[in-house]
Amino acid sequence: MNIENYKLEGSLIPIVTYPDPVLSAKAAEVTDFGPGLGKLVKDMLFTMYKAPGIGLAAPQIGQSIRMFVLDVDYDREEVTNAAGREEYRLSNFNPMVFINPVITGTSGTTVYEEGCLSVPGVYEEVKRFESVNVKFQNLKGEFQELEAHDMLAICIQHENDHLDGVVFIERLSNLKKTFYKKKLLKEKGR
Ligand code: NI
Repeated sequence: MNIENYKLEGSLIPIVTYPDPVLSAKAAEVTDFGPGLGKLVKDMLFTMYKAPGIGLAAPQIGQSIRMFVLDVDYDREEVTNAAGREEYRLSNFNPMVFINPVITGTSGTTVYEEGCLSVPGVYEEVKRFESVNVKFQNLKGEFQELEAHDMLAICIQHENDHLDGVVFIERLSNLKKTFYKKKLLKEKGR
């Protein structure tokens, strides 16, 4: 799969929500770079764009492997289709895939209001590094390195946390963390 020429196609995969145990597990290294991985990436991107979200980590679709996809650049425009119904038109895709990522350097700090497809309805400010250096593998298994700033850096940190079993509410103050954990467990119990 060539993600540079991404088309909005694939299969929708159900997104697991907190407190599903897969979200708190440490994910395993990806070792199989066969065609199945390309198919999974394509379906994860499709699922992410449809949600819509700007990042999706493999544990969020129940696969405990060290991989995530993201796109911090695409446009989403509400349009009226020929049948007179409102729909969303997505354009300017810039999909990225990070396999076995390792954050090798960090600098600065920033605060941004984050959300997560696995924690619906919760939006809270999280403190992150402003810039990160990340080493990772691409779909062919080739090693790559990237210096990311601002939104891309924030997204990489959020998604990388998922691979270590950390959901963003874990990064909040103890008071907020306890509040949301109770709230989400209660909602899940209904
Ligand atoms: Ni998330």
